[in-house]
Amino acid sequence: MKKILVVHYSQTGQLTDIVDAILGPLASDKSIQIDTLTLQPKQNYPFPWATQTFCDVFPESVEGVPCELAPLDLDPDARYDLIVLAYTVWYLSPSIPVHSFLQSPEAGRLFKGTPVVTVIGCRNMWLLAQERVKNCIRELGGHLVGNIVLGDRASNLVGVATIAYWMLTGRKDRLLGVFPKPGVDAADIRGASRFGVILRKALQDDIRSLDQDVLNAVGAVRVEPAYIIFEKRIMKIFRIWARFIRRKGGPGAPARQRRVRGFFYYLLVAIVVLAPVATLGAKVTLRLKKARIDKAIDYFSHNDLEP
Ligand SMILES: Cc1cc2nc3c(=O)[nH]c(=O)nc-3n(C[C@H](O)[C@H](O)[C@H](O)COP(=O)(O)O)c2cc1C
Repeated sequence: MKKILVVHYSQTGQLTDIVDAILGPLASDKSIQIDTLTLQPKQNYPFPWATQTFCDVFPESVEGVPCELAPLDLDPDARYDLIVLAYTVWYLSPSIPVHSFLQSPEAGRLFKGTPVVTVIGCRNMWLLAQERVKNCIRELGGHLVGNIVLGDRASNLVGVATIAYWMLTGRKDRLLGVFPKPGVDAADIRGASRFGVILRKALQDDIRSLDQDVLNAVGAVRVEPAYIIFEKRIMKIFRIWARFIRRKGGPGAPARQRRVRGFFYYLLVAIVVLAPVATLGAKVTLRLKKARIDKAIDYFSHNDLEP
Protein backbone atom coordinates (compact mmCIF):
# COMPACT_ATOMS: atom_id res chain seq x y z
CA MET A 1 0.00 0.00 0.00
CA LYS A 2 1.40 3.43 -1.01
CA LYS A 3 0.51 6.35 1.21
CA ILE A 4 0.08 9.95 0.07
CA LEU A 5 -0.47 12.99 2.25
CA VAL A 6 -2.15 16.01 0.66
CA VAL A 7 -1.60 19.32 2.47
CA HIS A 8 -3.60 22.26 1.21
CA TYR A 9 -5.37 25.52 1.94
CA SER A 10 -7.99 26.93 -0.40
CA GLN A 11 -10.32 29.85 0.22
CA THR A 12 -12.84 29.46 -2.57
CA GLY A 13 -12.32 25.76 -3.20
CA GLN A 14 -10.54 26.34 -6.52
CA LEU A 15 -7.28 24.79 -5.32
CA THR A 16 -9.20 21.88 -3.77
CA ASP A 17 -10.85 21.23 -7.15
CA ILE A 18 -7.42 21.27 -8.80
CA VAL A 19 -6.00 18.80 -6.28
CA ASP A 20 -9.06 16.54 -6.59
CA ALA A 21 -8.69 16.50 -10.37
CA ILE A 22 -4.98 15.69 -10.22
CA LEU A 23 -5.46 12.95 -7.64
CA GLY A 24 -8.51 11.45 -9.33
CA PRO A 25 -6.52 8.65 -11.03
CA LEU A 26 -4.77 7.84 -7.73
CA ALA A 27 -7.93 7.99 -5.60
CA SER A 28 -9.53 5.27 -7.71
CA ASP A 29 -6.52 2.96 -7.18
CA LYS A 30 -7.10 0.59 -4.25
CA SER A 31 -3.36 0.18 -3.66
CA ILE A 32 -3.04 3.88 -2.79
CA GLN A 33 -4.19 5.52 0.44
CA ILE A 34 -4.67 9.30 0.41
CA ASP A 35 -4.77 11.27 3.67
CA THR A 36 -5.71 14.95 3.54
CA LEU A 37 -4.57 17.74 5.82
CA THR A 38 -6.66 20.88 5.33
CA LEU A 39 -4.91 23.82 6.94
CA GLN A 40 -7.14 25.95 9.13
CA PRO A 41 -5.96 29.37 10.35
CA LYS A 42 -7.17 30.05 13.92
CA GLN A 43 -8.49 33.36 12.70
CA ASN A 44 -10.00 32.77 9.31
CA TYR A 45 -9.22 34.98 6.32
CA PRO A 46 -12.62 36.24 5.19
CA PHE A 47 -13.90 35.66 1.68
CA PRO A 48 -14.93 37.78 -0.16
CA TRP A 49 -12.22 40.15 0.98
CA ALA A 50 -12.65 43.78 1.96
CA THR A 51 -10.07 45.86 0.09
CA GLN A 52 -8.35 46.87 3.34
CA THR A 53 -8.10 43.28 4.63
CA PHE A 54 -6.88 42.09 1.24
CA CYS A 55 -4.04 44.60 1.46
CA ASP A 56 -3.45 44.03 5.19
CA VAL A 57 -2.24 40.46 4.56
CA PHE A 58 0.41 41.80 2.19
CA PRO A 59 3.32 42.48 4.60
CA GLU A 60 3.08 39.14 6.40
CA SER A 61 2.77 37.29 3.07
CA VAL A 62 5.93 38.91 1.72
CA GLU A 63 7.94 38.65 4.94
CA GLY A 64 6.79 35.10 5.68
CA VAL A 65 5.38 35.96 9.11
CA PRO A 66 3.28 32.99 10.25
CA CYS A 67 -0.31 33.05 11.50
CA GLU A 68 -1.61 30.65 14.14
CA LEU A 69 -3.05 27.45 12.74
CA ALA A 70 -5.64 25.21 14.41
CA PRO A 71 -4.02 22.00 15.71
CA LEU A 72 -3.12 19.75 12.80
CA ASP A 73 -5.41 16.77 12.48
CA LEU A 74 -2.80 14.05 11.82
CA ASP A 75 0.07 12.14 13.36
CA PRO A 76 3.22 14.09 12.43
CA ASP A 77 5.31 10.94 12.81
CA ALA A 78 3.33 9.02 10.18
CA ARG A 79 5.48 8.13 7.15
CA TYR A 80 4.29 8.83 3.62
CA ASP A 81 5.58 7.75 0.22
CA LEU A 82 4.67 11.16 -1.16
CA ILE A 83 3.51 14.52 0.15
CA VAL A 84 1.47 16.67 -2.22
CA LEU A 85 1.82 20.26 -1.04
CA ALA A 86 -0.85 22.37 -2.73
CA TYR A 87 -0.77 26.12 -2.29
CA THR A 88 -1.97 29.40 -3.70
CA VAL A 89 0.16 32.50 -4.15
CA TRP A 90 -0.40 35.68 -2.17
CA TYR A 91 1.73 38.63 -3.26
CA LEU A 92 4.35 36.50 -5.04
CA SER A 93 4.68 34.38 -1.88
CA PRO A 94 3.13 31.15 -0.65
CA SER A 95 -0.19 31.97 1.08
CA ILE A 96 0.15 32.73 4.80
CA PRO A 97 -1.52 29.48 6.03
CA VAL A 98 0.88 27.42 3.89
CA HIS A 99 4.06 29.20 4.86
CA SER A 100 2.88 29.02 8.50
CA PHE A 101 2.53 25.26 8.16
CA LEU A 102 5.99 25.00 6.59
CA GLN A 103 7.42 26.71 9.67
CA SER A 104 5.67 24.34 12.11
CA PRO A 105 7.53 21.58 13.97
CA GLU A 106 5.07 19.04 12.53
CA ALA A 107 6.12 19.91 8.99
CA GLY A 108 9.73 19.15 9.94
CA ARG A 109 8.76 15.67 11.09
CA LEU A 110 6.49 14.93 8.14
CA PHE A 111 8.77 16.17 5.39
CA LYS A 112 12.07 14.70 6.58
CA GLY A 113 13.28 12.29 3.93
CA THR A 114 9.94 12.35 2.05
CA PRO A 115 9.43 13.07 -1.69
CA VAL A 116 7.23 16.10 -2.31
CA VAL A 117 5.21 17.27 -5.31
CA THR A 118 4.03 20.87 -5.25
CA VAL A 119 0.74 21.93 -6.83
CA ILE A 120 0.18 25.64 -7.37
CA GLY A 121 -3.20 27.19 -8.18
CA CYS A 122 -2.75 30.89 -8.83
CA ARG A 123 -3.36 33.72 -11.29
CA ASN A 124 -0.05 33.75 -13.14
CA MET A 125 2.84 34.82 -10.92
CA TRP A 126 4.30 31.96 -8.91
CA LEU A 127 8.04 31.85 -9.68
CA LEU A 128 9.36 33.50 -6.52
CA ALA A 129 6.76 31.81 -4.30
CA GLN A 130 8.05 28.47 -5.55
CA GLU A 131 11.64 29.50 -4.81
CA ARG A 132 10.58 30.11 -1.20
CA VAL A 133 8.79 26.77 -1.06
CA LYS A 134 11.78 24.97 -2.62
CA ASN A 135 13.97 26.45 0.13
CA CYS A 136 11.55 25.43 2.90
CA ILE A 137 11.27 21.86 1.59
CA ARG A 138 15.03 21.58 1.45
CA GLU A 139 15.43 22.96 4.99
CA LEU A 140 12.81 20.48 6.22
CA GLY A 141 14.76 17.61 4.67
CA GLY A 142 12.13 16.80 2.01
CA HIS A 143 12.89 16.05 -1.65
CA LEU A 144 11.01 18.11 -4.21
CA VAL A 145 10.44 15.75 -7.14
CA GLY A 146 7.71 17.50 -9.12
CA ASN A 147 5.79 20.71 -9.65
CA ILE A 148 2.42 21.30 -11.31
CA VAL A 149 1.09 24.82 -11.90
CA LEU A 150 -2.41 25.84 -12.94
CA GLY A 151 -3.01 29.51 -13.63
CA ASP A 152 -5.52 31.77 -15.32
CA ARG A 153 -5.56 31.90 -19.12
CA ALA A 154 -6.24 35.66 -19.20
CA SER A 155 -3.52 38.16 -20.05
CA ASN A 156 -1.90 39.94 -17.12
CA LEU A 157 -4.00 43.12 -17.05
CA VAL A 158 -7.29 41.35 -17.75
CA GLY A 159 -6.40 38.78 -15.09
CA VAL A 160 -5.78 41.49 -12.51
CA ALA A 161 -9.23 42.97 -13.18
CA THR A 162 -11.06 39.64 -13.08
CA ILE A 163 -9.33 38.30 -9.99
CA ALA A 164 -9.84 41.58 -8.10
CA TYR A 165 -13.55 41.39 -9.00
CA TRP A 166 -13.74 37.77 -7.79
CA MET A 167 -11.75 38.30 -4.58
CA LEU A 168 -13.55 41.49 -3.56
CA THR A 169 -17.13 40.52 -4.48
CA GLY A 170 -17.03 36.73 -4.18
CA ARG A 171 -18.61 36.49 -7.66
CA LYS A 172 -17.02 34.18 -10.21
CA ASP A 173 -19.04 35.40 -13.19
CA ARG A 174 -17.99 37.62 -16.13
CA LEU A 175 -17.25 41.15 -14.97
CA LEU A 176 -19.59 43.54 -16.87
CA GLY A 177 -20.56 40.57 -19.02
CA VAL A 178 -17.51 41.11 -21.24
CA PHE A 179 -14.46 39.97 -19.27
CA PRO A 180 -13.58 36.26 -19.12
CA LYS A 181 -14.61 34.33 -16.01
CA PRO A 182 -12.08 34.75 -13.19
CA GLY A 183 -9.78 31.99 -12.06
CA VAL A 184 -8.47 28.81 -13.60
CA ASP A 185 -10.55 27.62 -16.54
CA ALA A 186 -12.87 24.72 -15.63
CA ALA A 187 -11.56 22.70 -18.59
CA ASP A 188 -7.98 23.17 -17.38
CA ILE A 189 -9.01 21.89 -13.94
CA ARG A 190 -10.74 18.83 -15.41
CA GLY A 191 -7.75 18.15 -17.65
CA ALA A 192 -5.37 18.12 -14.68
CA SER A 193 -6.12 14.44 -14.16
CA ARG A 194 -3.43 13.77 -16.81
CA PHE A 195 -0.82 14.73 -14.22
CA GLY A 196 -2.32 12.19 -11.82
CA VAL A 197 -1.82 9.42 -14.35
CA ILE A 198 1.90 10.27 -14.43
CA LEU A 199 2.08 10.47 -10.62
CA ARG A 200 0.37 7.11 -10.24
CA LYS A 201 2.86 5.42 -12.57
CA ALA A 202 5.81 7.09 -10.83
CA LEU A 203 4.47 6.03 -7.44
CA GLN A 204 4.27 2.42 -8.59
CA ASP A 205 7.84 2.55 -10.03
CA ASP A 206 9.89 4.93 -7.90
CA ILE A 207 8.48 8.33 -7.08
CA ARG A 208 11.97 9.69 -6.39
CA SER A 209 12.81 9.35 -10.05
CA LEU A 210 9.71 11.23 -11.20
CA ASP A 211 10.87 13.26 -14.20
CA GLN A 212 9.74 16.90 -14.26
CA ASP A 213 10.31 16.91 -18.02
CA VAL A 214 7.66 14.20 -18.40
CA LEU A 215 5.24 16.40 -16.44
CA ASN A 216 6.29 19.47 -18.42
CA ALA A 217 5.70 17.65 -21.70
CA VAL A 218 1.99 17.67 -20.83
CA GLY A 219 2.04 21.26 -19.58
CA ALA A 220 2.77 20.99 -15.85
CA VAL A 221 4.98 24.09 -15.81
CA ARG A 222 5.04 26.88 -18.36
CA VAL A 223 7.33 29.77 -17.52
CA GLU A 224 6.33 33.13 -18.96
CA PRO A 225 9.70 34.81 -19.70
CA ALA A 226 8.51 38.36 -18.93
CA TYR A 227 7.45 37.33 -15.43
CA ILE A 228 11.01 36.28 -14.56
CA ILE A 229 11.90 39.95 -14.90
CA PHE A 230 8.63 41.33 -13.46
CA GLU A 231 8.55 39.24 -10.32
CA LYS A 232 12.11 40.09 -9.31
CA ARG A 233 11.49 43.82 -9.83
CA ILE A 234 8.13 43.81 -8.08
CA MET A 235 9.49 41.83 -5.13
CA LYS A 236 12.21 44.43 -4.49
CA ILE A 237 9.52 47.12 -4.11
CA PHE A 238 7.20 44.78 -2.16
CA ARG A 239 9.93 44.19 0.43
CA ILE A 240 10.32 47.92 1.03
CA TRP A 241 6.54 48.40 1.41
CA ALA A 242 6.25 45.37 3.70
CA ARG A 243 8.96 46.65 6.06
CA PHE A 244 7.45 50.14 5.99
CA ILE A 245 3.97 48.87 6.94
CA ARG A 246 5.17 46.43 9.60
CA ARG A 247 7.04 49.20 11.42
CA LYS A 248 3.58 50.43 12.47
CA GLY A 249 2.39 47.09 13.85
CA GLY A 250 1.26 43.55 13.06
CA PRO A 251 -1.80 42.21 11.19
CA GLY A 252 -4.83 44.47 11.54
CA ALA A 253 -3.06 47.05 13.76
CA PRO A 254 -4.97 50.35 13.53
CA ALA A 255 -1.68 52.28 13.46
CA ARG A 256 -0.65 50.72 10.15
CA GLN A 257 -3.91 51.13 8.26
CA ARG A 258 -2.90 54.43 6.63
CA ARG A 259 0.20 52.76 5.22
CA VAL A 260 -1.85 49.75 4.11
CA ARG A 261 -4.15 52.17 2.24
CA GLY A 262 -1.06 53.82 0.74
CA PHE A 263 0.05 50.42 -0.52
CA PHE A 264 -3.37 49.90 -2.11
CA TYR A 265 -3.02 53.16 -4.06
CA TYR A 266 0.51 52.20 -5.03
CA LEU A 267 -0.85 48.87 -6.37
CA LEU A 268 -3.45 50.68 -8.47
CA VAL A 269 -0.84 52.99 -10.01
CA ALA A 270 1.54 50.06 -10.51
CA ILE A 271 -1.11 48.06 -12.34
CA VAL A 272 -2.51 50.86 -14.49
CA VAL A 273 0.62 52.89 -15.25
CA LEU A 274 3.78 50.95 -14.37
CA ALA A 275 2.79 47.49 -15.65
CA PRO A 276 2.32 48.52 -19.31
CA VAL A 277 5.65 50.42 -19.25
CA ALA A 278 7.35 47.45 -17.60
CA THR A 279 5.88 45.11 -20.23
CA LEU A 280 7.55 47.17 -22.96
CA GLY A 281 10.82 47.26 -21.01
CA ALA A 282 10.68 43.50 -20.48
CA LYS A 283 10.26 42.91 -24.22
CA VAL A 284 13.49 44.81 -24.87
CA THR A 285 15.35 42.98 -22.08
CA LEU A 286 14.12 39.61 -23.34
CA ARG A 287 15.64 40.33 -26.77
CA LEU A 288 18.93 41.64 -25.42
CA LYS A 289 19.49 38.93 -22.85
CA LYS A 290 18.03 35.94 -24.66
CA ALA A 291 20.69 33.43 -23.55
CA ARG A 292 20.33 34.42 -19.89
CA ILE A 293 16.54 34.34 -20.06
CA ASP A 294 16.55 30.88 -21.71
CA LYS A 295 18.71 29.62 -18.86
CA ALA A 296 16.31 31.14 -16.32
CA ILE A 297 13.28 29.56 -18.05
CA ASP A 298 14.96 26.18 -17.80
CA TYR A 299 15.79 26.81 -14.13
CA PHE A 300 12.24 27.80 -13.15
CA SER A 301 10.83 24.82 -15.09
CA HIS A 302 12.67 22.40 -12.80
CA ASN A 303 13.03 21.65 -9.11
CA ASP A 304 16.66 22.32 -8.27
CA LEU A 305 17.63 25.29 -6.15
CA GLU A 306 20.12 27.88 -7.29
CA PRO A 307 23.39 27.22 -5.41
C1 LIG B 1 -4.25 38.31 -1.02
C2 LIG B 1 -4.07 37.61 -2.34
C3 LIG B 1 -2.93 37.86 -3.11
C4 LIG B 1 -2.75 37.18 -4.32
N1 LIG B 1 -1.57 37.36 -5.02
C5 LIG B 1 -1.32 36.60 -6.12
C6 LIG B 1 -0.04 36.66 -6.77
O1 LIG B 1 0.89 37.37 -6.36
N2 LIG B 1 0.16 35.89 -7.88
C7 LIG B 1 -0.83 35.08 -8.39
O2 LIG B 1 -0.59 34.44 -9.40
N3 LIG B 1 -2.04 34.98 -7.78
C8 LIG B 1 -2.30 35.70 -6.65
N4 LIG B 1 -3.52 35.58 -5.99
C9 LIG B 1 -4.52 34.57 -6.48
C10 LIG B 1 -4.38 33.27 -5.68
O3 LIG B 1 -3.12 32.67 -5.89
C11 LIG B 1 -5.47 32.25 -6.02
O4 LIG B 1 -5.50 31.99 -7.37
C12 LIG B 1 -6.84 32.70 -5.59
O5 LIG B 1 -6.75 33.29 -4.32
C13 LIG B 1 -7.84 31.53 -5.50
O6 LIG B 1 -7.34 30.54 -4.62
P1 LIG B 1 -8.20 29.64 -3.63
O7 LIG B 1 -8.06 28.23 -4.11
O8 LIG B 1 -7.59 29.82 -2.26
O9 LIG B 1 -9.60 30.13 -3.67
C14 LIG B 1 -3.75 36.27 -4.79
C15 LIG B 1 -4.89 36.05 -4.02
C16 LIG B 1 -5.05 36.68 -2.81
C17 LIG B 1 -6.27 36.39 -1.98
